[in-house]
Amino acid sequence: MTTSTSTFEQRQLRDVLGTFVTGVTVVTTLDEHGVAHGVTANSFSSVSLDPPLVLWSQALTSKSYPAFRDSNHFAVNILAHDQIAISNHFARSSEDKFNGIVHDSGIGGVPVLDGAAGHLECVKVAAYPSGDHVVYIGRVERIGHSGRRGLAFGSGKYMLAYSHDLEASSFQRGGARPVPLDSLGAVRELMPAIAARLGDHTLCLAVWGNHGPTAIHWEPSRHPVSDQLLTGLVMPVTQSASGKAFAAFLSADITGPFIDEDLRLFPVSGESLAARRVQFDEELAGIRQKGVASTIGTDPSPLHGVPVNSFSVPVRDTDSEMVMALTLTSVAERLRADPDGEVPQGLISAAKEISERLKAHSISEQSC
Ligand SMILES: Cc1cc2nc3c(=O)[nH]c(=O)nc-3n(C[C@H](O)[C@H](O)[C@H](O)COP(=O)(O)O)c2cc1C
Repeated sequence: MTTSTSTFEQRQLRDVLGTFVTGVTVVTTLDEHGVAHGVTANSFSSVSLDPPLVLWSQALTSKSYPAFRDSNHFAVNILAHDQIAISNHFARSSEDKFNGIVHDSGIGGVPVLDGAAGHLECVKVAAYPSGDHVVYIGRVERIGHSGRRGLAFGSGKYMLAYSHDLEASSFQRGGARPVPLDSLGAVRELMPAIAARLGDHTLCLAVWGNHGPTAIHWEPSRHPVSDQLLTGLVMPVTQSASGKAFAAFLSADITGPFIDEDLRLFPVSGESLAARRVQFDEELAGIRQKGVASTIGTDPSPLHGVPVNSFSVPVRDTDSEMVMALTLTSVAERLRADPDGEVPQGLISAAKEISERLKAHSISEQSC
Protein backbone atom coordinates (compact mmCIF):
# COMPACT_ATOMS: atom_id res chain seq x y z
CA MET A 1 0.00 0.00 0.00
CA THR A 2 1.13 3.60 -0.59
CA THR A 3 2.19 5.42 2.57
CA SER A 4 1.46 9.15 2.77
CA THR A 5 3.62 11.76 4.44
CA SER A 6 3.46 15.53 4.77
CA THR A 7 7.15 15.80 5.65
CA PHE A 8 9.44 14.87 2.80
CA GLU A 9 12.83 15.63 1.39
CA GLN A 10 13.32 17.06 -2.08
CA ARG A 11 14.70 13.68 -3.21
CA GLN A 12 11.46 11.94 -2.15
CA LEU A 13 9.38 14.56 -3.97
CA ARG A 14 11.44 14.03 -7.12
CA ASP A 15 10.95 10.27 -6.83
CA VAL A 16 7.19 10.63 -6.62
CA LEU A 17 7.09 13.14 -9.49
CA GLY A 18 9.27 10.75 -11.51
CA THR A 19 6.57 8.09 -11.43
CA PHE A 20 4.54 10.34 -13.74
CA VAL A 21 5.79 9.08 -17.11
CA THR A 22 6.11 11.86 -19.68
CA GLY A 23 7.34 12.41 -23.18
CA VAL A 24 10.56 14.34 -23.78
CA THR A 25 10.76 17.64 -25.63
CA VAL A 26 13.44 20.08 -26.66
CA VAL A 27 12.06 23.62 -26.37
CA THR A 28 13.84 26.07 -28.63
CA THR A 29 13.96 29.80 -29.18
CA LEU A 30 16.00 32.51 -30.84
CA ASP A 31 17.45 35.39 -28.82
CA GLU A 32 17.63 39.05 -29.84
CA HIS A 33 21.03 38.45 -31.49
CA GLY A 34 19.65 35.63 -33.61
CA VAL A 35 21.41 32.97 -31.49
CA ALA A 36 19.46 29.69 -31.15
CA HIS A 37 18.82 28.17 -27.70
CA GLY A 38 17.36 24.80 -26.81
CA VAL A 39 16.56 22.99 -23.57
CA THR A 40 15.48 19.43 -22.91
CA ALA A 41 12.19 19.63 -21.00
CA ASN A 42 9.63 17.13 -19.80
CA SER A 43 7.49 19.72 -18.03
CA PHE A 44 5.62 20.26 -21.29
CA SER A 45 1.85 19.84 -21.14
CA SER A 46 -1.17 20.65 -23.24
CA VAL A 47 -3.46 23.26 -21.69
CA SER A 48 -6.32 24.13 -24.04
CA LEU A 49 -7.57 23.09 -27.48
CA ASP A 50 -9.62 26.23 -28.15
CA PRO A 51 -7.67 28.44 -28.13
CA PRO A 52 -4.72 26.07 -28.65
CA LEU A 53 -2.46 26.58 -25.63
CA VAL A 54 0.46 24.62 -24.21
CA LEU A 55 2.85 25.14 -21.29
CA TRP A 56 6.29 24.21 -20.10
CA SER A 57 8.34 25.36 -17.14
CA GLN A 58 11.96 26.41 -16.97
CA ALA A 59 14.35 26.52 -14.03
CA LEU A 60 15.42 30.08 -13.24
CA THR A 61 18.99 28.77 -12.98
CA SER A 62 18.97 27.64 -16.63
CA LYS A 63 21.65 29.32 -18.68
CA SER A 64 19.14 29.94 -21.44
CA TYR A 65 16.52 31.44 -19.12
CA PRO A 66 17.16 35.08 -20.23
CA ALA A 67 16.75 34.05 -23.88
CA PHE A 68 13.34 32.39 -23.25
CA ARG A 69 12.28 35.19 -20.87
CA ASP A 70 12.93 37.84 -23.52
CA SER A 71 11.72 36.00 -26.62
CA ASN A 72 8.14 36.13 -27.92
CA HIS A 73 8.30 32.70 -29.56
CA PHE A 74 9.26 29.15 -28.74
CA ALA A 75 8.94 25.76 -30.42
CA VAL A 76 8.27 22.50 -28.60
CA ASN A 77 10.00 19.62 -30.40
CA ILE A 78 8.53 16.31 -29.21
CA LEU A 79 11.42 13.84 -29.43
CA ALA A 80 11.12 10.50 -31.23
CA HIS A 81 12.07 7.21 -29.52
CA ASP A 82 15.55 7.14 -31.10
CA GLN A 83 16.51 10.71 -30.10
CA ILE A 84 18.00 10.00 -26.66
CA ALA A 85 21.32 11.49 -27.81
CA ILE A 86 19.51 14.71 -28.79
CA SER A 87 17.78 14.80 -25.40
CA ASN A 88 21.09 14.37 -23.57
CA HIS A 89 22.75 16.94 -25.80
CA PHE A 90 20.17 19.65 -24.98
CA ALA A 91 20.18 18.74 -21.29
CA ARG A 92 23.78 20.00 -20.98
CA SER A 93 24.68 23.69 -21.04
CA SER A 94 27.08 24.57 -23.82
CA GLU A 95 28.03 27.53 -25.96
CA ASP A 96 26.74 26.38 -29.33
CA LYS A 97 24.17 23.64 -28.83
CA PHE A 98 23.04 23.73 -32.46
CA ASN A 99 26.40 22.91 -33.98
CA GLY A 100 25.81 19.72 -36.00
CA ILE A 101 22.08 19.58 -35.17
CA VAL A 102 19.91 19.38 -38.30
CA HIS A 103 17.03 21.83 -38.00
CA ASP A 104 14.68 24.11 -39.87
CA SER A 105 13.35 27.53 -39.03
CA GLY A 106 9.82 28.00 -37.65
CA ILE A 107 7.80 31.12 -36.84
CA GLY A 108 9.93 33.88 -35.30
CA GLY A 109 12.97 31.94 -36.55
CA VAL A 110 12.70 29.32 -33.78
CA PRO A 111 14.64 26.10 -34.52
CA VAL A 112 12.51 23.09 -35.50
CA LEU A 113 14.51 19.87 -35.07
CA ASP A 114 14.74 17.18 -37.72
CA GLY A 115 13.50 13.67 -36.90
CA ALA A 116 11.15 14.58 -34.03
CA ALA A 117 7.80 12.86 -33.49
CA GLY A 118 6.08 16.22 -33.79
CA HIS A 119 6.49 19.90 -33.04
CA LEU A 120 4.46 22.96 -32.02
CA GLU A 121 5.52 26.49 -32.98
CA CYS A 122 4.19 28.93 -30.39
CA VAL A 123 3.78 32.60 -29.58
CA LYS A 124 4.53 33.13 -25.90
CA VAL A 125 1.36 34.61 -24.34
CA ALA A 126 2.20 34.46 -20.62
CA ALA A 127 5.01 33.73 -18.17
CA TYR A 128 4.17 32.95 -14.53
CA PRO A 129 6.98 32.89 -11.98
CA SER A 130 6.40 29.78 -9.86
CA GLY A 131 8.93 29.03 -7.13
CA ASP A 132 12.29 28.14 -8.65
CA HIS A 133 10.74 27.85 -12.14
CA VAL A 134 8.81 30.04 -14.54
CA VAL A 135 5.80 28.62 -16.36
CA TYR A 136 5.47 29.72 -19.97
CA ILE A 137 2.17 29.52 -21.81
CA GLY A 138 2.33 29.41 -25.59
CA ARG A 139 -0.41 29.80 -28.22
CA VAL A 140 0.17 27.21 -30.91
CA GLU A 141 0.48 28.80 -34.33
CA ARG A 142 1.87 25.96 -36.45
CA ILE A 143 2.29 22.25 -35.92
CA GLY A 144 4.09 19.29 -37.54
CA HIS A 145 3.61 15.54 -37.09
CA SER A 146 6.04 12.96 -38.50
CA GLY A 147 4.21 9.79 -37.42
CA ARG A 148 7.35 8.63 -35.57
CA ARG A 149 6.92 7.04 -32.15
CA GLY A 150 7.65 9.34 -29.22
CA LEU A 151 10.35 8.93 -26.56
CA ALA A 152 9.12 8.48 -22.98
CA PHE A 153 10.75 9.35 -19.65
CA GLY A 154 9.92 8.16 -16.13
CA SER A 155 11.71 7.55 -12.82
CA GLY A 156 14.85 9.16 -14.26
CA LYS A 157 15.08 6.78 -17.23
CA TYR A 158 14.33 6.94 -20.92
CA MET A 159 11.57 4.57 -21.90
CA LEU A 160 9.82 3.26 -24.96
CA ALA A 161 6.08 3.75 -25.07
CA TYR A 162 3.82 1.15 -26.67
CA SER A 163 0.12 0.64 -26.43
CA HIS A 164 -0.90 -1.71 -23.65
CA ASP A 165 -0.47 -5.36 -24.69
CA LEU A 166 -3.64 -6.50 -22.98
CA GLU A 167 -6.00 -3.92 -24.38
CA ALA A 168 -8.89 -5.95 -25.76
CA SER A 169 -9.99 -3.15 -28.06
CA SER A 170 -6.61 -2.80 -29.81
CA PHE A 171 -7.80 -4.97 -32.68
CA GLN A 172 -10.74 -2.69 -33.44
CA ARG A 173 -8.40 0.28 -33.32
CA GLY A 174 -6.13 -1.04 -36.05
CA GLY A 175 -4.02 -3.79 -34.48
CA ALA A 176 -3.67 -7.22 -36.08
CA ARG A 177 -6.12 -9.97 -35.19
CA PRO A 178 -5.15 -11.97 -32.12
CA VAL A 179 -4.81 -15.75 -32.26
CA PRO A 180 -6.86 -17.34 -29.45
CA LEU A 181 -4.45 -18.92 -26.99
CA ASP A 182 -6.28 -22.25 -26.97
CA SER A 183 -5.93 -22.55 -30.78
CA LEU A 184 -2.18 -22.27 -30.52
CA GLY A 185 -1.80 -25.67 -28.90
CA ALA A 186 -3.70 -27.24 -31.80
CA VAL A 187 -1.43 -25.46 -34.30
CA ARG A 188 1.79 -26.44 -32.51
CA GLU A 189 0.79 -30.10 -32.71
CA LEU A 190 1.03 -29.90 -36.50
CA MET A 191 4.51 -28.44 -36.60
CA PRO A 192 6.81 -31.48 -36.20
CA ALA A 193 5.09 -33.29 -39.10
CA ILE A 194 5.20 -30.18 -41.29
CA ALA A 195 8.90 -29.71 -40.53
CA ALA A 196 9.66 -33.34 -41.40
CA ARG A 197 7.61 -33.18 -44.61
CA LEU A 198 9.33 -29.99 -45.83
CA GLY A 199 12.82 -31.43 -45.44
CA ASP A 200 13.86 -30.70 -41.88
CA HIS A 201 14.38 -26.96 -41.98
CA THR A 202 13.81 -24.61 -39.02
CA LEU A 203 10.21 -23.40 -38.78
CA CYS A 204 8.86 -20.38 -36.96
CA LEU A 205 5.36 -19.14 -36.18
CA ALA A 206 5.14 -15.40 -35.69
CA VAL A 207 2.28 -13.10 -34.76
CA TRP A 208 2.01 -9.36 -35.23
CA GLY A 209 2.66 -8.02 -31.73
CA ASN A 210 2.71 -4.44 -30.50
CA HIS A 211 6.35 -4.17 -31.53
CA GLY A 212 5.93 -5.83 -34.94
CA PRO A 213 6.55 -9.43 -36.11
CA THR A 214 7.10 -11.53 -32.98
CA ALA A 215 8.21 -15.19 -32.83
CA ILE A 216 5.84 -17.30 -30.72
CA HIS A 217 6.99 -20.80 -31.66
CA TRP A 218 10.13 -22.36 -33.17
CA GLU A 219 10.26 -25.87 -34.56
CA PRO A 220 13.97 -26.73 -34.48
CA SER A 221 15.68 -28.85 -37.11
CA ARG A 222 18.49 -31.42 -37.05
CA HIS A 223 20.34 -28.87 -39.21
CA PRO A 224 20.06 -25.84 -36.89
CA VAL A 225 20.50 -22.32 -38.23
CA SER A 226 21.10 -20.89 -34.78
CA ASP A 227 21.11 -21.65 -31.07
CA GLN A 228 19.18 -18.42 -30.51
CA LEU A 229 15.64 -19.40 -31.45
CA LEU A 230 13.94 -17.23 -28.87
CA THR A 231 10.20 -16.82 -28.47
CA GLY A 232 9.31 -13.17 -28.13
CA LEU A 233 12.02 -12.27 -30.64
CA VAL A 234 10.90 -9.21 -32.62
CA MET A 235 11.93 -9.29 -36.27
CA PRO A 236 12.48 -6.25 -38.47
CA VAL A 237 9.55 -5.78 -40.81
CA THR A 238 11.57 -4.94 -43.94
CA GLN A 239 14.55 -7.24 -43.30
CA SER A 240 12.99 -10.55 -42.34
CA ALA A 241 10.83 -12.96 -44.36
CA SER A 242 8.20 -12.99 -41.58
CA GLY A 243 8.16 -9.18 -41.51
CA LYS A 244 7.74 -8.99 -45.27
CA ALA A 245 4.85 -11.49 -45.18
CA PHE A 246 3.04 -9.33 -42.62
CA ALA A 247 3.84 -6.20 -44.62
CA ALA A 248 2.38 -7.80 -47.75
CA PHE A 249 -0.76 -9.36 -46.28
CA LEU A 250 -1.78 -7.23 -43.29
CA SER A 251 -3.48 -3.85 -43.69
CA ALA A 252 -1.09 -0.98 -44.48
CA ASP A 253 -2.70 0.93 -41.58
CA ILE A 254 -1.11 -1.57 -39.22
CA THR A 255 2.27 -2.10 -40.86
CA GLY A 256 2.87 1.27 -42.58
CA PRO A 257 4.44 3.12 -39.60
CA PHE A 258 6.67 0.08 -38.84
CA ILE A 259 7.87 -0.05 -42.46
CA ASP A 260 8.75 3.66 -42.47
CA GLU A 261 10.53 3.30 -39.14
CA ASP A 262 12.47 0.26 -40.34
CA LEU A 263 13.63 1.95 -43.52
CA ARG A 264 14.97 4.79 -41.39
CA LEU A 265 16.70 2.37 -39.01
CA PHE A 266 18.44 0.48 -41.85
CA PRO A 267 19.69 3.27 -44.13
CA VAL A 268 21.26 2.51 -47.51
CA SER A 269 23.81 5.08 -48.54
CA GLY A 270 22.90 7.06 -51.65
CA GLU A 271 19.24 5.97 -51.61
CA SER A 272 16.46 8.24 -50.36
CA LEU A 273 13.79 6.96 -48.00
CA ALA A 274 11.08 7.73 -50.56
CA ALA A 275 12.85 5.71 -53.28
CA ARG A 276 13.37 2.76 -50.91
CA ARG A 277 9.70 2.87 -49.91
CA VAL A 278 8.71 2.66 -53.59
CA GLN A 279 11.11 -0.30 -54.07
CA PHE A 280 9.74 -2.04 -50.97
CA ASP A 281 6.13 -1.52 -52.14
CA GLU A 282 7.09 -3.13 -55.47
CA GLU A 283 8.61 -6.07 -53.60
CA LEU A 284 5.37 -6.41 -51.57
CA ALA A 285 3.31 -6.48 -54.79
CA GLY A 286 5.50 -9.40 -55.99
CA ILE A 287 5.03 -11.19 -52.66
CA ARG A 288 1.23 -10.86 -52.92
CA GLN A 289 1.34 -12.28 -56.42
CA LYS A 290 3.49 -15.29 -55.48
CA GLY A 291 1.92 -15.78 -52.04
CA VAL A 292 5.36 -16.14 -50.44
CA ALA A 293 7.88 -13.67 -48.95
CA SER A 294 11.59 -14.37 -48.82
CA THR A 295 14.97 -13.14 -47.68
CA ILE A 296 17.95 -14.54 -49.49
CA GLY A 297 21.24 -14.53 -47.59
CA THR A 298 24.55 -13.75 -49.15
CA ASP A 299 26.07 -12.34 -45.95
CA PRO A 300 25.85 -13.92 -42.48
CA SER A 301 22.44 -13.04 -40.98
CA PRO A 302 22.69 -10.86 -37.81
CA LEU A 303 20.43 -13.33 -35.96
CA HIS A 304 21.87 -16.65 -37.15
CA GLY A 305 25.51 -15.70 -37.82
CA VAL A 306 25.58 -17.62 -41.14
CA PRO A 307 24.02 -16.84 -44.54
CA VAL A 308 20.43 -18.16 -44.47
CA ASN A 309 17.53 -18.31 -46.87
CA SER A 310 14.02 -17.85 -45.48
CA PHE A 311 10.52 -18.09 -46.87
CA SER A 312 7.36 -16.93 -45.11
CA VAL A 313 3.66 -17.33 -45.88
CA PRO A 314 0.44 -16.12 -44.24
CA VAL A 315 -1.72 -18.26 -41.98
CA ARG A 316 -5.30 -17.02 -42.11
CA ASP A 317 -8.31 -17.18 -39.78
CA THR A 318 -11.95 -18.00 -40.61
CA ASP A 319 -12.39 -14.58 -42.27
CA SER A 320 -9.24 -15.11 -44.36
CA GLU A 321 -7.40 -12.41 -42.37
CA MET A 322 -3.71 -13.06 -41.76
CA VAL A 323 -3.14 -13.98 -38.11
CA MET A 324 0.32 -15.58 -38.21
CA ALA A 325 3.33 -15.94 -40.45
CA LEU A 326 4.71 -19.43 -41.01
CA THR A 327 8.40 -19.09 -41.80
CA LEU A 328 10.99 -21.63 -42.90
CA THR A 329 14.70 -20.93 -42.55
CA SER A 330 17.79 -22.89 -43.53
CA VAL A 331 21.47 -22.27 -44.11
CA ALA A 332 21.66 -20.97 -47.68
CA GLU A 333 23.42 -24.07 -49.06
CA ARG A 334 20.53 -26.36 -47.92
CA LEU A 335 17.69 -24.32 -49.41
CA ARG A 336 17.33 -23.11 -52.98
CA ALA A 337 16.44 -19.41 -53.23
CA ASP A 338 13.67 -20.00 -55.80
CA PRO A 339 10.20 -19.03 -54.41
CA ASP A 340 8.58 -21.38 -56.96
CA GLY A 341 10.67 -24.27 -55.61
CA GLU A 342 9.25 -27.35 -53.94
CA VAL A 343 9.95 -26.22 -50.36
CA PRO A 344 8.28 -22.76 -50.49
CA GLN A 345 5.34 -24.23 -52.38
CA GLY A 346 5.07 -26.92 -49.69
CA LEU A 347 5.16 -24.13 -47.10
CA ILE A 348 2.13 -22.49 -48.75
CA SER A 349 0.24 -25.81 -48.46
CA ALA A 350 1.33 -26.18 -44.83
CA ALA A 351 0.02 -22.68 -44.02
CA LYS A 352 -3.32 -23.65 -45.58
CA GLU A 353 -3.37 -26.77 -43.41
CA ILE A 354 -2.73 -24.65 -40.31
CA SER A 355 -5.46 -22.20 -41.40
CA GLU A 356 -7.87 -25.14 -41.73
CA ARG A 357 -6.90 -26.36 -38.26
CA LEU A 358 -7.58 -22.86 -36.86
CA LYS A 359 -10.98 -22.78 -38.57
CA ALA A 360 -11.89 -26.27 -37.34
CA HIS A 361 -10.79 -25.33 -33.83
CA SER A 362 -12.82 -22.14 -33.85
CA ILE A 363 -15.94 -23.98 -35.10
CA SER A 364 -15.61 -26.68 -32.44
CA GLU A 365 -15.15 -23.97 -29.77
CA GLN A 366 -18.30 -22.18 -30.94
CA SER A 367 -20.36 -25.36 -30.85
CA CYS A 368 -19.27 -26.21 -27.29
C1 LIG B 1 14.45 14.35 -19.38
C2 LIG B 1 14.81 15.75 -18.94
C3 LIG B 1 13.80 16.66 -18.70
C4 LIG B 1 14.10 17.98 -18.29
N1 LIG B 1 13.09 18.85 -18.10
C5 LIG B 1 13.35 20.12 -17.77
C6 LIG B 1 12.29 21.08 -17.67
O1 LIG B 1 11.12 20.78 -17.86
N2 LIG B 1 12.62 22.36 -17.34
C7 LIG B 1 13.93 22.74 -17.14
O2 LIG B 1 14.16 23.91 -16.86
N3 LIG B 1 14.94 21.85 -17.26
C8 LIG B 1 14.69 20.57 -17.57
N4 LIG B 1 15.71 19.66 -17.73
C9 LIG B 1 17.09 20.10 -17.50
C10 LIG B 1 17.61 20.97 -18.63
O3 LIG B 1 17.49 20.31 -19.86
C11 LIG B 1 19.08 21.30 -18.40
O4 LIG B 1 19.19 22.01 -17.19
C12 LIG B 1 19.72 22.11 -19.51
O5 LIG B 1 21.09 22.14 -19.33
C13 LIG B 1 19.26 23.50 -19.59
O6 LIG B 1 19.95 24.09 -20.68
P1 LIG B 1 20.67 25.51 -20.54
O7 LIG B 1 21.54 25.40 -19.34
O8 LIG B 1 21.38 25.67 -21.84
O9 LIG B 1 19.57 26.51 -20.35
C14 LIG B 1 15.44 18.36 -18.12
C15 LIG B 1 16.47 17.43 -18.37
C16 LIG B 1 16.16 16.15 -18.77
C17 LIG B 1 17.25 15.16 -19.08
